[in-house]
Amino acid sequence: MTEWQKTNWRNKPRVQMPDYTDAAALAKVEAQLSQYPPLVFAGEARRLKQHLGAAGRGEAFLLQGGDCAESFEQFSADAIRDTFKVMLQMAMVLTYGAKVPVVKVGRMAGQFAKPRSAPTEVVDGVELPSYRGDIINELAFTPEARIPNPGKMLQAYTQAAATLNLLRAFSTGGFADMSMVHSWTLGFTDEQDVQKYSEIADRIQDTIDFMGAAGITADTTHEFSTVEFYTSHEGLLLEYEEALTRLDSTSGNWLAGSGHMIWIGDRTRQPDGAHVEFCRGVLNPIGLKCGPTTTAEDLKVLMSKLNPENEEGRLTLIARFGAGKAGEHLPRLVKAVKEEGAKVTWVCDPMHGNTIKSATGYKTRPFDSVLREVRDFFGVHQSEGTIPGGVHFEMTGLDVTECTGGVRAVTEEDLSDRYHTACDPRLNASQSLELAFLVAEELTNLRRNGSKRAAS
Ligand code: PEP
Ligand code: CO
Repeated sequence: MTEWQKTNWRNKPRVQMPDYTDAAALAKVEAQLSQYPPLVFAGEARRLKQHLGAAGRGEAFLLQGGDCAESFEQFSADAIRDTFKVMLQMAMVLTYGAKVPVVKVGRMAGQFAKPRSAPTEVVDGVELPSYRGDIINELAFTPEARIPNPGKMLQAYTQAAATLNLLRAFSTGGFADMSMVHSWTLGFTDEQDVQKYSEIADRIQDTIDFMGAAGITADTTHEFSTVEFYTSHEGLLLEYEEALTRLDSTSGNWLAGSGHMIWIGDRTRQPDGAHVEFCRGVLNPIGLKCGPTTTAEDLKVLMSKLNPENEEGRLTLIARFGAGKAGEHLPRLVKAVKEEGAKVTWVCDPMHGNTIKSATGYKTRPFDSVLREVRDFFGVHQSEGTIPGGVHFEMTGLDVTECTGGVRAVTEEDLSDRYHTACDPRLNASQSLELAFLVAEELTNLRRNGSKRAAS
């Protein structure tokens, strides 16, 4: 393979990227971003890679979550805090089920660019270019708003930097104190009167009380007062990614400085395309979405391009098939991985195969389909003897009404109340936490079956 350069993607076929009309303005933005500091440090990306490697071996479990698309308009400290908070609550519940550390990765501080199913959108007979995320154009349905504007990359960079700054402050500044997370978890179960979750919540409480009595508290134990929280986004807008790519002087390798982990979407994973070309050369952990059209042959080529040295934690395969479809698609991919002896971390995205249009006209996802796909995913791994390494959710800490179902039963009629997503529908705080309890149950069953297998 030719020596990698951060600009080589420019010679490959590209899809889902904007055609900027003002080349001079684009060049100016790229030059500016190239001067700016990277948002993350190579050592952090390497550390995340180790954690993801552990998840691939079943010694950790990945929780990746956040907005489908971060928004300039809805940017606020409260929204960041609430999503961070609910992810910590979920992580606590998952840790309880998995009995291994939970690796926390936000779809945050860079998740701005969106692939779309069609290049244009028609409303009342008017056809305009599709909205492609706030880093590219605007959601408003006017011709001006839909023109790709390279200047938006600078605003995205600024928002990503401010988001990451707050996340770093929360992670080490006392906000992540485990005893606080615990009280939030109980708040959910009390308020909801959800008996089925109270047993786990009580046990978590007992454990924390016991540790407190034994003198293991946030005051005495660093691990209880701080948390490692990483960022990720789809590496879609390659001009932005290239401009933030930096040489890591320690290793002599290239770092995508835009976030800790970047992933390749289901629509941009062409083995000879621009996105794979860019991602293969950066040292970050890489995610690869695998959908119903991913073939075993493609996966083999992609694994050899993206992880030629078969490094643990480098490649996370994010399965997103739709409820009831994992049984049809996942086994052939698991087999391809086995045949190659490839080291990968398997993760379930139960969101993107389960988007439907409600009778009331909203794009939504039924909670039950999301849960069902997670269960299918666990089931296939159980039969194949492979390891479910984590989950990937579109979620927010806010009380939105975008997905239907859950214990607070959002109905199709409720969707219009607080439907705020700039793109796909997200689980709200209560649905996210409920899902964490249900995934924890799966993890508990897996452990029990696993130990039975080992014993027999
Ligand atoms: C996404 O993660 O927002 C997304 C577009 O996913 P996919 O590429 O799997 O459709
Ligand atoms: Co999405």
